[in-house]
Amino acid sequence: MHSQTAPNFPLREAATGPPTPGGSAAYVYLIAAVAALGGLLFGFDTAIINGALVFLKKDFNLTDAQTELAASSILFGAVAGAAVAGWLTDRYGRRRLLFGAAALFTVSALAAAVPRTLTEFVVARLAGGLAIGVASLLVPLYIAEIAPARIRGRLVTLNQLAIVTGILLAYVASYYLAELGLASWRWMFAVAAVPSLLFMLTLLLVPESPRWLLGRGRAAEALGTLTRLNGPAAAAAEAAEVQAALADEQGAAASLRQPRLRRPLRIAVVLAVLQQVTGINTILYYGSLILTEHSGQSASSAIGANALIGGINFAGTIVALFVIDRVGRKPLLLIASGGMALALGALVMALQLHAPGPWLLGLIMLYVACFAVGLGPGVWVVITEIFPNAVRGRAASLATVALWAACTLISFTFLSLVKAAGLAGAFGLYALLSAFTFVFVWRAVPETKGRTLEEIEQKWQ
Ligand code: GLC
Repeated sequence: MHSQTAPNFPLREAATGPPTPGGSAAYVYLIAAVAALGGLLFGFDTAIINGALVFLKKDFNLTDAQTELAASSILFGAVAGAAVAGWLTDRYGRRRLLFGAAALFTVSALAAAVPRTLTEFVVARLAGGLAIGVASLLVPLYIAEIAPARIRGRLVTLNQLAIVTGILLAYVASYYLAELGLASWRWMFAVAAVPSLLFMLTLLLVPESPRWLLGRGRAAEALGTLTRLNGPAAAAAEAAEVQAALADEQGAAASLRQPRLRRPLRIAVVLAVLQQVTGINTILYYGSLILTEHSGQSASSAIGANALIGGINFAGTIVALFVIDRVGRKPLLLIASGGMALALGALVMALQLHAPGPWLLGLIMLYVACFAVGLGPGVWVVITEIFPNAVRGRAASLATVALWAACTLISFTFLSLVKAAGLAGAFGLYALLSAFTFVFVWRAVPETKGRTLEEIEQKWQ
């Protein structure tokens, strides 16, 4: 017995022990890697606008308001994509929706490269945003559903690593393609068609999620996939466990309004919003602007600093990949939010004392490193693993919509916030919100490492 507020699940040997005989780790990693191509495109498509915008603005002679529209159309698309994806995937499956996202990524990459007017460009980017919204939800969710419990955190973190890689590739692509001059922005969007097509083709290799299949009564197919993933003995046990959990869920007609979903919904939505309102994307989207305007660096060294920030984000995510299933989600989220609060607090002081540029850059890098080992991957892991099978798509979709809405809010308000309260004011606010995240994680988030999704689900009964 454990009380309602107990933060941890009872530990069971089966889930944390060694790999089961007969399963194929290579197959599991292959599936996760294919799915993670969706994360790569998510990262690339959100970050490529930074480099492209300068040229697009000149080429189409855009006003500031039009430039903002060109930059943000993708975020509106992402909110919409995440909103419809949950319902669609619970009905039509994980694989079909991933395929739909891959097709949309391809079409939008090509469409964003050929427009003659701003309207055409905005429509293409809205479509790209839809794909991002769908992929941001579906990729971690699908990976969480096929992953053996003992490496689920690592495999979902692989998606975050792909997102970060996509962001880095976008920096590199825009750096080199910029040499093509005024029309270079067209190439910056077009190159994304290559990984998009690869995503579409390789998706043919991956199976439908066995957990979704079991929910649809397709037990034989599910068992086949589970056997390839985990070996015959573990597969039978897992299928039985999923079926028992599904039988429990049926009684409640799988509604999102069941009282037992209140707690996991609150945890997922609040964590999703906190991941964004603690400011990470202000650094990733406006990094060069901050460094040129506030630490007196030249534009080219600011681009170099951007690459450093991207590199730190990548390195921190690798650390998370190796420790998230050993240390657990909760300690990483605590270290991250605590570290981010301290780094931002120090940054505010450094700004007020007019500390030299390298100090500011160092503190920004510390903040990004803390995000990367915890809040970046950890939030996606928690969102996709704390809901029962029957409602996972729709419930995780609510949290993902909240995440994109918060991302939109922060990107829209950052520049005016800096104008009104200064850079120190803006980062001071994000420092307070990071401290709040620490307290929220500490009090509300349960540890889920090593538990099967069905064991986690029992927690909310
Ligand atoms: C997470 C966030 C995303 C951010 C990325 C940066 O995936 O959800 O908004 O851009 O981390 O590493």
